[in-house]
Order: sequence, then structure tokens, then C-alpha cells
Amino acid sequence: MSIVLEARNLFRDYHVPASFNSPARTVQALKDASFSLKAGETLAVVGESGSGKSTLARILTLIDRQTSGSLHIEGREIDIARQKVTPELRRTVQMVFQNPYGSLNPRQKIGDTLMEPLELNTRLPKADREAQAREMLRRVGLDPAHFNRYPHMFSGGQRQRIAIARAIMLRPKILVLDEPVSALDLSVQAQILNLLADLQDEFGLSYVFISHDLSVVKYIADEVIVMYLGEVVEKGTRDQVFAAPAHPYTQALFAATPKADVAHIRARMAAKAAPTA
Ligand SMILES: Nc1ncnc2c1ncn2[C@@H]1O[C@H](COP(=O)(O)OP(=O)(O)O)[C@@H](O)[C@H]1O
Ligand SMILES: [Mg+2]
Repeated sequence: MSIVLEARNLFRDYHVPASFNSPARTVQALKDASFSLKAGETLAVVGESGSGKSTLARILTLIDRQTSGSLHIEGREIDIARQKVTPELRRTVQMVFQNPYGSLNPRQKIGDTLMEPLELNTRLPKADREAQAREMLRRVGLDPAHFNRYPHMFSGGQRQRIAIARAIMLRPKILVLDEPVSALDLSVQAQILNLLADLQDEFGLSYVFISHDLSVVKYIADEVIVMYLGEVVEKGTRDQVFAAPAHPYTQALFAATPKADVAHIRARMAAKAAPTA
């Protein structure tokens, strides 16, 4: 199976200038991270807050550059410091953020939001852009008739569908999803995860799926890497990592994960609602 994305020995240092109560210092947000993503698969990146996940996401999506190490996309080494990020390259990797309200322009109709990438990157006539945007709305489970609505008229889950739709308008190969369901209710999380699974099959997408939540990762991952303070401390297939977590940090992460599955919560609510004898 072919590798679409590979990171080799990535480091990212942030230099934090001195402030009135602390001297200048260097934060090592990524330390020697190496991994690869196979075509059509999902690599989950798990770790608690501050472990370097978003730093990694910005490097993989060519927004930020590593301090050292190399990034390879479809077998080609990519270094944004030395080469121009061409439109073709830019459209190969797209990002979906945690908070769809923050990532959607509140004053832009969602139809325009979906047509914008086509307008900037293709020469499609307006009628075709609009047809594709409407079709994508349908494809992500929204009503194409809502084309002229604004983001605030949608629920959180619907807004995340819009953000996902926008990310795949240019048919990327790779989606980097940074905590895409963390702000959503559990039942909505499941719907979005199902949608992502369907879109992966339909469009042949490869995902880097970032989450602090192991119960979500278990559902969607083919392979898993666990990050701790900027380092990849565990790497394996989902079944390997879940069956026998090797690193003490991963074991602790499992121990700390509440049973956040819907069946469990329903059972608890049912028990609460049951009349006491
Ligand atoms: N722009 C920045 N300047 C300085 N430090 C940063 C910056 N961005 C992130 N960091 C630090 O890098 C570490 C990793 O952050 P981040 O990648 O956001 O982690 P995560 O997404 O896993 O919560 C943290 O210690 C964070 O404070
Ligand atoms: Mg983050």
C-alpha cells in the first residue's frame, strides 16, 4: 500500500521572548516525530493538551515549518522554506479545525464559502461552481436549498459538515482534522464520524485525525500514534495499541479515559430515570 504522507524526525522549537516575569526560553513542541500515513487510511494522533498535536497539524498542512526534519507528500520532499507552495500542492492537503464557528466566516453565505476554493483555484464558470457546491452540500448531509444561509443558522454539527465540505471541494488527497468532533455532543460526534468514514471511501481520502479522546480514535483509526510532550511515545495499528499499550503514558491515558460511549451514558440515564422503589 502506498504512503501518501511521511514525517521524518520532525522537530519544532518555539522561541518565547522574555517577558517582565520570565526570561526568554525555547519550547520544544515537537521532538523527533516520525510516522507515515497510508493511502485511504486514517492515522490517529492522540495526546493530551500541549503534547504538540496542533503544531504537527500546522506543519503537515504547510502552514508552518518544522525546525528540522523532513516532510514527504506523495513521495516528494516538501520544504516551504525552499519551495513555493503551488496551488496543486496546496490542494493536496486540507485542514478541518475543531471549532467550525471560528473557521467559517459569519458574514459569508455557506454557498459562497463552498464556491470560494473553486473560484480561487479553478477556472470553472460560476454555474459549475454553484452546481458543485450544491452537490457537496447534499453529499455531506445538508439541504442544497440552504445554499444562501449564514453559518449562525446551523447547529454545531451542521457547521462542521460545512467545514468538511469546504475542505474537500478541491478533492484533496489528505485531510488533517484537528479535534474535529471535540466540541460536539456525543450523538453528533457519531454522525460526523460516520460521515467522515463515508467520504473517505467515496473520495479515497487519507486522514490524519487528531484527538485527545481515545473512544473516538478507537472508532476511526487504522493506525495510532500517541504523543507526549512533543514526542511520539507509541505507534502501532489500532488493534495493537488498544490491545496492549506499551508505553506507560499510553497506559495512563487509557486508565484516565472515561467510558464515554453512548450506550454507557444511556444506561446511566435510564438508571437515574428509573423510579425508585
Ligand atoms: N506559537 C507558539 N509560541 C510558543 N509556544 C507555543 C506556540 N504554539 C504552541 N506552543 C507550545 O507548544 C506546545 C504544544 O502546543 P500544541 O501544538 O498547541 O499542543 P496540542 O495541540 O497538543 O494541545 C505547548 O507547550 C504550547 O504551549
Ligand atoms: Mg491542539
